[in-house]
Amino acid sequence: MGARRDNKGGWLPAFSPDELTQAVEDNLRNLGLETMEVVNLRSMLDVHGPAEGSLEPQVEAMIKLKERGLVKHIGLSNVTPQQVADAQKMTPIACVQNLYNLANRQDEALVDKLAEQGIPYVPFFPLGGFSPLQSEQLTAVAQALNATTLQVALAWLLQRSPNILLIPGTSSPEHLKQNLASGEVVLSAEIVQCLNSIA
Ligand SMILES: NC(=O)c1ccc[n+]([C@@H]2O[C@H](COP(=O)([O-])OP(=O)(O)OC[C@H]3O[C@@H](n4cnc5c(N)ncnc54)[C@H](OP(=O)(O)O)[C@@H]3O)[C@@H](O)[C@H]2O)c1
Repeated sequence: MGARRDNKGGWLPAFSPDELTQAVEDNLRNLGLETMEVVNLRSMLDVHGPAEGSLEPQVEAMIKLKERGLVKHIGLSNVTPQQVADAQKMTPIACVQNLYNLANRQDEALVDKLAEQGIPYVPFFPLGGFSPLQSEQLTAVAQALNATTLQVALAWLLQRSPNILLIPGTSSPEHLKQNLASGEVVLSAEIVQCLNSIA
């Protein structure tokens, strides 16, 4: 929650406490549900990436939704480590969804900190999003393992930390099968070291 689509498919901030409340109520009505298991509060302080600033009014709105029983668990998205820590002083945070993949590793410390706390880290754009990940190292590793490059990218995330929860998007049943099979791709320490150099 935190944004709405315009009629051209663009994203517009809908980030005030009233808009967040309205969005949860609209989602519940559209989905025919009485409660949602988890709702991510997506920071829109900067639409393009995490930006420092207070999310207190928005987190308070989410807490009120939880108190009303409309939301069971609160997650955060597009946030900084400081914002996660600040929100955790107000309420339990169930998961964090930020940009993270082989080539985008700004959240290394946050992944580890959340792992220590037993909190899932859900990387968005795990395959690179609109421009799928490409690199010479990735191609070489994929060839050596008889896997696709994107299977290796997913396997790297799965091996990165036990709290990583994968949500690769696809419109292709074939890609879905490949993505599921990435759980069987095992990367040796040497290969992980090679892949780490991509960042
Ligand atoms: N919180 C946020 O701000 C935020 C931002 C962005 C995304 N998200 C969420 O994060 C999730 C993942 O994002 P995403 O789907 O945009 O990015 P992604 O998983 O990194 O990449 C998806 C792209 O990779 C392609 N792809 C998937 N599997 C493939 C395969 N095996 N081989 C080749 N190409 C493959 C897909 O095309 P095909 O359809 O052709 O397979 C699609 O173009 C989604 O649930 C999305 O809603 C959240």
